[in-house]
Amino acid sequence: MGHLYENILETVGRTPVIRINRMAPEGVNLYVKNEAANPLGSVKDRLALGVIEAAEEAGELKPGQTVIEATSGNTGIGLAMVCAVKGYPLVVTMADSFSVERRKLMRFLGAQVVLTPAADKGTGMVNKAVELAEANGWFLTRQFENEANPDYHSRTTAQEILDDFDGAPLDYWITGYGTGGTLKGVARVLAKERPDTKIVLCEPEEAPLLHDGVAQERNPDGSPAASHPSFKPHPMQGWTPDFIPKLTADAVDTDVIERLIQIANADALRCARELATREGIFVGPSAGGNVAGALKLAEDVPEGSTILAMLPDTGERYLTTPLFADIADDMTEEEAALSASTPGYQRPPAG
Ligand SMILES: Cc1ncc(COP(=O)(O)O)c(C=O)c1O
Repeated sequence: MGHLYENILETVGRTPVIRINRMAPEGVNLYVKNEAANPLGSVKDRLALGVIEAAEEAGELKPGQTVIEATSGNTGIGLAMVCAVKGYPLVVTMADSFSVERRKLMRFLGAQVVLTPAADKGTGMVNKAVELAEANGWFLTRQFENEANPDYHSRTTAQEILDDFDGAPLDYWITGYGTGGTLKGVARVLAKERPDTKIVLCEPEEAPLLHDGVAQERNPDGSPAASHPSFKPHPMQGWTPDFIPKLTADAVDTDVIERLIQIANADALRCARELATREGIFVGPSAGGNVAGALKLAEDVPEGSTILAMLPDTGERYLTTPLFADIADDMTEEEAALSASTPGYQRPPAG
């Protein structure tokens, strides 16, 4: 008999690992784990389900209680799915620099989206979420510190990688960090179960928070006191906020990270485009960033090495962002020439 799912949440995870064929250099086996295959299109579907289920089990989240989170979008979209299924109202705080598609998706899924000024960056939206949670008695999911986030990755993402590479070599696993949930949760399992697999971490060249080694100023409660001095805005939405998240710092402190690679904005965007045009894999800028990192890494690894890169989300979330800057609405000259023979079709005037 086939398998019938009881609800959408049962379809989170078990994402496919796929070989990269045309973009990979000769002599290197490059694979990607496609988190865009999650039901709401990103790796954050895992965290969303993980933190809500953990809060339910711990009795921290009461039936019908409002859930609130600060998010650059994907966590909010994942939480909106989980809250829709389970009947919790959801409020999301988000800096207005993140793409319009994300706000609309969350509202479409029934959430309320409270915008914070772009100038206040990630810390601004986090502070607003804390303020609203305290004022209203709402449940704050705290994705940047919540241990249920890496725990869920240890139980699912890491386990899937172990299963898919069972009996096969895996020399390098490469990821970026948003919260660091993927990093912390997967790295600790690989370090224990596959100690030969080296962990490689990416961050934007424009926001080399870890590379610069400057400690983050923190409030007494551990929250960031101000933006990290090495931060500049970058197009890899969901990667590297303007502070070093606790979960990321935890992973760095365990010394499991073999290499840290800086990724230029243009390389991330180019790789996301090439994944689409050369591999047929449609993903966002942070996925392009991880693949750009894998290609850099591939330049100096032993012949025959196997690399696995994470692809955090779908490209559909970026239609109004620099990822699509070169994609025309109207016909190109070449397309117009091809259409010229269509009877009755009038090309709209340029501009
Ligand atoms: C598009 C995108 N890429 C990468 C990440 C990083 O994932 P994590 O929070 O597990 O570090 C996120 C989430 O922050 C994301 O939304």
